[in-house]
Amino acid sequence: MVRCWKVLLILSTGLACYLFYQSLQSQPGPGHHRSRNGGAALSADGCSLVNIILLHSTMKILKKEEFFKVVKMLQRCPWIENPEEHKLLQRNFQTCCNTSYSMIVTQENTEMGQTIQYEVEKRTKNVTEELYNLFPKKSPFQKEIRSCAVVGNGGILNNSFCGNEIDRADFVFRLNLPPLNWTNDVGTKTDLVTANPSILLNKFRGLRKEKEPFITMVKEYGSSMILLPAFSYSMNTEVSFRALYTIKDFDLKSRVVFFNPDYLRNLGAYFKSLGLKFQRLSSGLMMVSVAAEVCETVTLYGFWPFSEDLDGVWISHHYYDNVIPKPGFHSMSDEFYWYLQMHAQGSLRLKLGQC
Ligand SMILES: *[C@@H]1O[C@H](CO)[C@@H](O)[C@H](O)[C@H]1NC(C)=O
Ligand SMILES: *[C@@H]1O[C@H](CO)[C@@H](O)[C@H](O)[C@H]1NC(C)=O
Ligand SMILES: *[C@@H]1O[C@H](CO)[C@@H](O)[C@H](O)[C@H]1NC(C)=O
Ligand SMILES: *[C@@H]1O[C@H](CO)[C@@H](O)[C@H](O)[C@H]1NC(C)=O
Repeated sequence: MVRCWKVLLILSTGLACYLFYQSLQSQPGPGHHRSRNGGAALSADGCSLVNIILLHSTMKILKKEEFFKVVKMLQRCPWIENPEEHKLLQRNFQTCCNTSYSMIVTQENTEMGQTIQYEVEKRTKNVTEELYNLFPKKSPFQKEIRSCAVVGNGGILNNSFCGNEIDRADFVFRLNLPPLNWTNDVGTKTDLVTANPSILLNKFRGLRKEKEPFITMVKEYGSSMILLPAFSYSMNTEVSFRALYTIKDFDLKSRVVFFNPDYLRNLGAYFKSLGLKFQRLSSGLMMVSVAAEVCETVTLYGFWPFSEDLDGVWISHHYYDNVIPKPGFHSMSDEFYWYLQMHAQGSLRLKLGQC
């Protein structure tokens, strides 16, 4: 521990010297070209220093101002893909969680007559024939997908013009049924979208009576999968089934699939083993983990846990509203730090500025 602190002290002194040196060089030299975001491109040495600092620090050690400085510098570095690191990450997820086989409840990983243990509550559900028949036969992730985009809902997406780039990915993950009419910034392609049952309960009144608003919204997602944590809390189950039946009854193209609670427990244990502290993983981190295992290349958009951008300008919580979630439930900034580290080591790409 003591040694670790010494290393960090040396590194942050190095960073301070580097920043000072940079500030003296107000004019970019002939070898520099402008990066698209936040000023002149940084030298290769500067970029490796930034990566070393990110990979050997934590959010708590860095403090916010230093952290913003480091991320700003990172913005001026090219992202260098490291296929070996990505393979390693894929293997870690395969070993802990076997996403491609276990992420959703299927007829292949669940038997008729068995009981499903809920993720969070001490409660089980019997798999009757009727329930079994609602599950898809196989996992949708039989073979590796080439390129994936995971689209968070952060206000940082406003004016990002990332829509085209997102839509060009082979597979697009979205979170919590977001509106898609900010097309220039977020695109429209959706292959999988998570749905928090609390939205169905609050915004759509539990789908008990009027179903039109829900149906209108679901149509926006075309033939995508709608992923529900039906077996995480008991209050999720009934409304998740209602969503599934509504989509079937109205013959919509999308299909409802259920998160496998065993998978989510394993994933939680995996991140605990990495030292992440949380009550429950956010659906953002769940989807990033899924993509990290089943995709060859992964780009993250719209992930930014602060209420100001790198220049200190206020940004809304979501690109479509400023509703703040209840505090203390997720550990967004720690999760974000992990994304940054994965970006620094070249296994995932985190997009922050304009596309
Ligand atoms: C995932 O689970 C399936 C079914 O049990 C198994 O065939 C496969 O080998 C597993 N993959 C890994 C990486 O453990
Ligand atoms: C589930 O099945 C077990 C035995 O298979 C049975 O004892 C139990 O009553 C069932 N629970 C429900 C809610 O049907
Ligand atoms: C998207 O739709 C919402 C609700 O209908 C509306 O308030 C918002 O202004 C629209 N956004 C854009 C960029 O058109
Ligand atoms: C992003 O757009 C939403 C919806 O138009 C708006 O409420 C919010 O203030 C915008 N945020 C920023 C940073 O412009």
